[in-house]
Amino acid sequence: MLRFLTAGESHGKGLVTIIDNFPAGVKIDGDFIDEKLALRQSGYGRGARQKIETDKIEFLSGVRGGLTTGSPVSFFIKNKDYENWRDRMDVFKPVPEETKIHIPRPGHADFAGSIKFGLDDIRDVLERSSARETASRVAAGAIYQILLKNFSIEFTSAVLSIGGVGSKKGSDFNFDTFFFDAIDLFDDEIVKNINNSELRMPYPDLESRAKALIDKMKTEGDTVGGLIVAQVKNLPIGLGSFTQWDEKLDGHIAMSLMSIQAIKSVEIGSGVKSAFVKGSEYHDSIYYGKKGPDFAKGKGEAGGFYRKTDNAGGIEGGMSNGGIISVRCAMKPIPTLMKPYLDTVDLKTGEAKKAFLERSDICAVPAASIVVESALAFSICYFFLKKFGGDSLDEIKRNYEGYIKGIK
Ligand SMILES: Cc1cc2nc3c(=O)[nH]c(=O)nc-3n(C[C@H](O)[C@H](O)[C@H](O)COP(=O)(O)O)c2cc1C
Repeated sequence: MLRFLTAGESHGKGLVTIIDNFPAGVKIDGDFIDEKLALRQSGYGRGARQKIETDKIEFLSGVRGGLTTGSPVSFFIKNKDYENWRDRMDVFKPVPEETKIHIPRPGHADFAGSIKFGLDDIRDVLERSSARETASRVAAGAIYQILLKNFSIEFTSAVLSIGGVGSKKGSDFNFDTFFFDAIDLFDDEIVKNINNSELRMPYPDLESRAKALIDKMKTEGDTVGGLIVAQVKNLPIGLGSFTQWDEKLDGHIAMSLMSIQAIKSVEIGSGVKSAFVKGSEYHDSIYYGKKGPDFAKGKGEAGGFYRKTDNAGGIEGGMSNGGIISVRCAMKPIPTLMKPYLDTVDLKTGEAKKAFLERSDICAVPAASIVVESALAFSICYFFLKKFGGDSLDEIKRNYEGYIKGIK
């Protein structure tokens, strides 16, 4: 089965990723991967670190002559900032006592991580728990997207709100507009807006107010989170399965997305709304025969099954139903604050302290939207290969076409 592992520290030499069980014959577009990496670094509200790094993928194995070979695909992403940390990150030099960190920042892995591993320097935890790791996930996600593009499967993502600023109607937080309004991120106007927005927001009137909120947070030494949406279209019916708990597509997606640093909720389709409306209002009736945009037969071709609503978010019974898969995620405010608001305790002395300040983002929701899209690509690619898997792209294409032909 498709799997991947990442390694590397935030201020170490770089990040290493291995993707295993990836098929041969997939044409790799390095620019596409680097564009996704650049998007992960962008967005209004990022910290100084992003000015130091210009992430680029360097393949180590599994690709030759521009095509994957079927061997494990591995790659490296360099940390340019390592030059400033050489001494402190040295593999063999003993760590001087005075540089060790004993004061855990609330909201980080610092507290539980250092106790769990018996470490007397929190740096050993924060270096790995840092969201720098998401560069690996984004590059890997781009590789999954490249494979799936061969089947017209497309991914996108956007930021629905920053803090309380958001919603289609331009109002501040409002349950109805956040959780009851559907959005089609593939709509041409919406795509244009997202691409023109420094915050990847689909409605331009929100952008200036969201930026003003980020500026305010900067002045106050505080941070802010937001709501992300990611979508994937042109999926065949039947990825994932109802037959076993760990084969469910929605469950797998929840794991992929929830494991992203600072993501605190995963909602499939209009999941929150489902708790508040009647069955007759919520469930997506099934129709057949009309030409529809994104349903059945994998490619939105004329004819087939379709729905007029998509509250289910493209997943029923743990399987893709042919509709657009839509997921929303809440990202919490960045836990490193530039002013000493948060109380904590020195783990060495037991003394009450204020959480220490480290160079940090004020808002990283636009960057996280790219990570969410990439993590979604892993779950989709995992089940796509499970269903149509073969050792080469040609073999997968034969399996895929045979299945699609078999659907009425
Ligand atoms: C793209 C991205 C960038 C982030 N940047 C920062 C940052 O600059 N400073 C920080 O304290 N946390 C940042 N975080 C969040 C922390 O990494 C995260 O909250 C922490 O590791 C604890 O994990 P948890 O929130 O999942 O419990 C970022 C998260 C993402 C997804």
